[in-house]
Amino acid sequence: MKNKIIVTGGCGYIGSHTVISLINHDYEVVIIDDLSNSNIQVLDRIERITNVRPQFEHIDLKSFEATQAVFNIHNDAKAVIHFAAHKAVAESIQNPLMYYQNNLFSLLNTLKAQEDNGINHHIFSSSATVYGNPSLIPITEEAPVQRPFSPYGNTKKIAEEILEDFTNAQSEVAVISLRYFNPIGAHESGLIGEFPSGIPNNLMPYITQTAAGVREKLMVFGNDYPTKDGTPIRDYIHVVDLAEAHLKALQRLLNATATKPYEVFNLGTGTGVSVLEMINAFEAVSGSPLNYEITARRPGDATEIFAATELAKHALGWEATRNLQDMIQSSWTWEQNLRKEL
Ligand code: WQD
Repeated sequence: MKNKIIVTGGCGYIGSHTVISLINHDYEVVIIDDLSNSNIQVLDRIERITNVRPQFEHIDLKSFEATQAVFNIHNDAKAVIHFAAHKAVAESIQNPLMYYQNNLFSLLNTLKAQEDNGINHHIFSSSATVYGNPSLIPITEEAPVQRPFSPYGNTKKIAEEILEDFTNAQSEVAVISLRYFNPIGAHESGLIGEFPSGIPNNLMPYITQTAAGVREKLMVFGNDYPTKDGTPIRDYIHVVDLAEAHLKALQRLLNATATKPYEVFNLGTGTGVSVLEMINAFEAVSGSPLNYEITARRPGDATEIFAATELAKHALGWEATRNLQDMIQSSWTWEQNLRKEL
């Protein structure tokens, strides 16, 4: 009998890659997704890659009735991996209420439905953005959580506080929050990847769309930071490494080896890469120069962020294995495939 896992937001970027890892590790997967920032075709792609079509529930988690009905059906699930959330920083600044409503109501309804159905394990998709502009790097899980710059980031901070209070009140529920650094890359098949709606916020999709001719040029937001080349540094991590970390966190919960009811792990490579280094590395992979221009800083950007990786390595038995070239090549292959289809 396979363990059933509910994956909210499972048609999204990180969610779909995690669904593939779950299926490959013989889990039964139920995807819940409202398709507000993803495409039903992802199900076909997951089936093409794994020969398994996950069960799919097309509901809005902001509706408690709809959420409760689906969880009642799937009350034999062993855990929930909760990706469902809006995640565009700029959009959250323009429309904070939509972000607080969507990201927090979805989480609250999911937790209540889990509690009502005795589904006692939850993995939460969090973000290194909760560290704000850290003073100490590499960043450990003990680093102070600061008021994130964006409402998007603040929904992640508040969500973690809700989860901690929930587990403190519930003796049998265990939760792991995974704080992603900068997810990039795509599945080796080239069939799924990041598909931002509208103008990309994030660096890598903007780079690949520029190289593909979709964008005229990349704006590099400032080269006057106190870093080796003046551009900000981030910890870019391959989305498949990230997906595999979720499997390890799930095993920790299901094997009841978690030491506390609420645990937090950073998911990064432990290596920082600057924007200019990323551009140079991309040009080496694509074989052609990238059109970019140095412009003003983007408000809220941190100078340097990369993860301390010891805790995830020790407690989850996980570490990132894919290098920057793997990340860039897979992103570029995905973008080129996407352009052939669109
Ligand atoms: C990386 C670097 C930019 C675009 C955010 C969220 C985080 C997570 C990842 C969701 C920065 C520079 C970018 C561009 C640029 N999101 N840049 N020109 O800001 O580190 O993190 O995305 O899960 O929660 O906070 O990532 O990719 O936006 O930026 O120069 O067109 O690239 O200034 O230094 P960020 P990013």
